[in-house]
Amino acid sequence: MERTLVLVKPDAVAKGCSGAILARLEATGAKLVAAKMLQIPRALAEKHYEAHRAKPFFAGVVGFITSGPVVAAVFEGEGAVAKVRKAMGATNPANAEPGTIRRDFAESIERNAVHGSDSPESAAIEISLYFKPEEIISR
Ligand code: CMP
Repeated sequence: MERTLVLVKPDAVAKGCSGAILARLEATGAKLVAAKMLQIPRALAEKHYEAHRAKPFFAGVVGFITSGPVVAAVFEGEGAVAKVRKAMGATNPANAEPGTIRRDFAESIERNAVHGSDSPESAAIEISLYFKPEEIISR
């Protein structure tokens, strides 16, 4: 069954929007099968954003995601990656459709409230960075 990794980012956690964001993701029909709050260590953030290492925003993204607690979650179900990405909206909240999470909760392209894996392949890698297999309760 397809899975995707979600991070409710430090801006949204600090504003008390974690529950509202998880509720919107559950409303897509994808099933919540794992969740925890954590402060991401720098080495983990650098691994997660490895694909962006050469980009000018790499240091900013790593600095931001490690700046405060996040809520990490795994959603599961047919088309889970696409369902979550549709509910999140465009990376830049200025371009996000009305009714999407980023349009309603994000402040900027960096402080953009939520992360979701961009493919089932990257989801498998990202999920393994944040969760042990036994922490995922798929039933
Ligand atoms: P995320 O889905 O977590 O994956 C990579 C992140 O890099 C992305 O969300 C944005 O927060 C961030 N990002 C992408 N493009 C830019 C950019 N041009 N400037 C700053 N941050 C960016």
